[in-house]
Amino acid sequence: MPIDVVVRAVGRYVPERVMTNQDFAAFLDTTDEWITERTGIKERHFAAPGEWNSDMALHAAKQCLERAGVAAADLDLIIVPTVTPDTPFPATANWLQGKLGNDKAWSFDLNAGCSGYIYALSVASALLEAGRNRYALVMGSERMTALTDYTKREYCVLFGDAAGCLLLEAVDSAQNPQGYGLRQFYHQSDGSLATILLQQAGGSNKPATPLTVARHEHYISMDGQAVYKAAVRLMDRSVTEVLSRAGVELSDIDWFIGHQANARILEATQRRLKVPPEKMYINIQRYGNTTSATIPLCLDELWEAGKLKPGHKVVLFTFGTGFTWGSCYLVWGSPEDSS
Ligand code: ACO
Repeated sequence: MPIDVVVRAVGRYVPERVMTNQDFAAFLDTTDEWITERTGIKERHFAAPGEWNSDMALHAAKQCLERAGVAAADLDLIIVPTVTPDTPFPATANWLQGKLGNDKAWSFDLNAGCSGYIYALSVASALLEAGRNRYALVMGSERMTALTDYTKREYCVLFGDAAGCLLLEAVDSAQNPQGYGLRQFYHQSDGSLATILLQQAGGSNKPATPLTVARHEHYISMDGQAVYKAAVRLMDRSVTEVLSRAGVELSDIDWFIGHQANARILEATQRRLKVPPEKMYINIQRYGNTTSATIPLCLDELWEAGKLKPGHKVVLFTFGTGFTWGSCYLVWGSPEDSS
């Protein structure tokens, strides 16, 4: 039978500790004005010592499953896109599965930087469409503070910790006349840009040594302007490409939700595409860049505020290390919302 993949519920978790721009100005040569003007960020959240990435993910997952009325034991598939896994192996998704007490699912991480969330939605969607799994949890969860060098003012102010997720369900298309669900994807990458945003050491090419630690090579290394230029070019393209593949007009879209890396990038995209500003959701001011968690955080906030309703047409779009980029067109909700 033809299968549609729909969104059953959303969840999020942000750690308690808030780090404001003023907090940075207390130990770094920076100001609230500079950070706000260049990035749009006012504050971000930091995980507590001993709080694992999978602990944050667990909070978000429990909230999401409770909202859907689905038991953790019923999950068939768990994917965690992340660049800050609990351990290099096993996968954060395995740790999360254990903490959820689920012994049925297959679980794995996916590494595509800030594009991870949309890549993971695409992989989950294809696997559910194949008909062998019913429920998939797609969890964007990051402990970016672990990768951040707090002596580097040019980027340390950008990042925060958080987790956000969607529960996807495979449903019989015949039972989904409203056409809810993940309808179209576009994704691409360009490995020739791998060096503009990377973690130099800690992989098999350069395992940890006292020297790599002394040189701060386990932290993020980024050419901010090169990333900015690539992002601005690829965000527009991601939106227009997925809409053209879906055969949907820009004016039909209720929400444009882009990866929250810099408010200026999102505002530039909004202006160039001539999208009404109120349809481009921006929450980077409260969380900073939480890498693979930014998109589900936006969806959760919008849903919780009652602004994201069944039937709403949404475009998700992103860019990230790799260089990777992509987009998803979806119709929010599931047949459960109409029953
Ligand atoms: N506070 C005060 N001054 C600063 C700071 C700071 N925190 N950081 C840099 N500066 C200074 C620089 O030293 C420079 O000073 P100079 O003119 O005397 O040399 C000046 O500010 C301008 O620096 P630029 O690097 O040119 O600043 P820019 O406008 O490019 O903004 C930023 C920097 C915010 C990092 C921007 O380039 C950016 O957003 N790039 C994209 C970042 C991004 O999206 N990364 C992705 C992360 S991972 C992902 O999401 C895929």
